Amino acid sequence: MNDLDLALARLNAGALVAIPTETVYGLAADASNPEAVARIFALKGRPADHPVIVHIAGSAQLTDWAQDIPDTAWQLAEAFWPGPLTLILKRQPHVLDAVTGGQDTVGLRAPAHPLTSQLLQQFGGGLAAPSANRFGHVSPTTAQHVRDEFGDEAPLVLDGGPCQVGVESTIVSLIDGAPKLLRPGGILREQIENLLGMKLEHHQHAQTAKVRVSGLLDSHYAPRTPLISGPRLAVRQAALLAAQAGQRIALITQSAAVADGVYSHVVTMPSEFDAYAQRLYDTLRQLDTFGLDALYLENPPTNAGWLAVNDRLRRASHQQLN
Ligand code: TXA
Ligand code: MG
Repeated sequence: MNDLDLALARLNAGALVAIPTETVYGLAADASNPEAVARIFALKGRPADHPVIVHIAGSAQLTDWAQDIPDTAWQLAEAFWPGPLTLILKRQPHVLDAVTGGQDTVGLRAPAHPLTSQLLQQFGGGLAAPSANRFGHVSPTTAQHVRDEFGDEAPLVLDGGPCQVGVESTIVSLIDGAPKLLRPGGILREQIENLLGMKLEHHQHAQTAKVRVSGLLDSHYAPRTPLISGPRLAVRQAALLAAQAGQRIALITQSAAVADGVYSHVVTMPSEFDAYAQRLYDTLRQLDTFGLDALYLENPPTNAGWLAVNDRLRRASHQQLN
């Protein structure tokens, strides 16, 4: 049996399979099988009231899961699916409470990875899949990350290579009037605003959002080693002091000019936002294996394309300098 057939057999039997997507790897289960969905929550250690995204092959499946679908949803699906965009819509009555977190809505997305597209076509139904990491930890962007994350408990991992986008999907709510940006991600806010010809509301903090979005918790996507971020000069100064005090420090920067021999590790990140996003989680995971005292990260730019990267960095940081 090839991996795809094996994955299909496992999913049909109610087991978990880790699947590649263009954003991050997902921990997938048959979205219409309550025992299978419960296995996701058990393995992740995720609170039961946090909803999971249902992955579908394409917009032809939208009406299987959602009802009262507004024109904006069809427009967005047409423009950006398959791709890194999740739409929050009113659920069909059959959608499991475990999937929706007991809410009246469901998150739907058609991922763009060819292996997973094929899997979804053949599976026919929907795959409930959060990112394939323990609750609160850094999302996985390679098959090895998933194996590292779950060790002996790891499910079958469908290896689709490194994820091309590297940060999670953009989440847009199309419930109650004006579209809202719940989580910035792989599709830029501007792309959506240009398509719809309107501005998106965006709430930065979980407390101000009306719906539960676990990715909105202020502490999320975090490495185990303390991550300290902030403006370049402040971070350089603090990192230098810590290194001089004998701490083993990694400096994550975008500038090539770093003094030799001061830091245990120096990572120079790409200057373009998409390349930066693609490498971000892998970088944090690698640095996490070195047993360092702290990771010091110089904030990247804040202009348009950087919204998702800055959002994840803020939530991954244990401390933010001013
Ligand atoms: O790129 C992605 O979106 C990846 C890949 C695997 O597709 N998935 C992902 O899943 O990031 P997860 O569970 O780590 O984050 C999904 C977010 C959560 O913050 C969840 O609360 C939110 O989507 N969500 C899911 N259904 C929702 C709903 N009905 N209403 C509001 N938020 C929802
Ligand atoms: Mg996640």
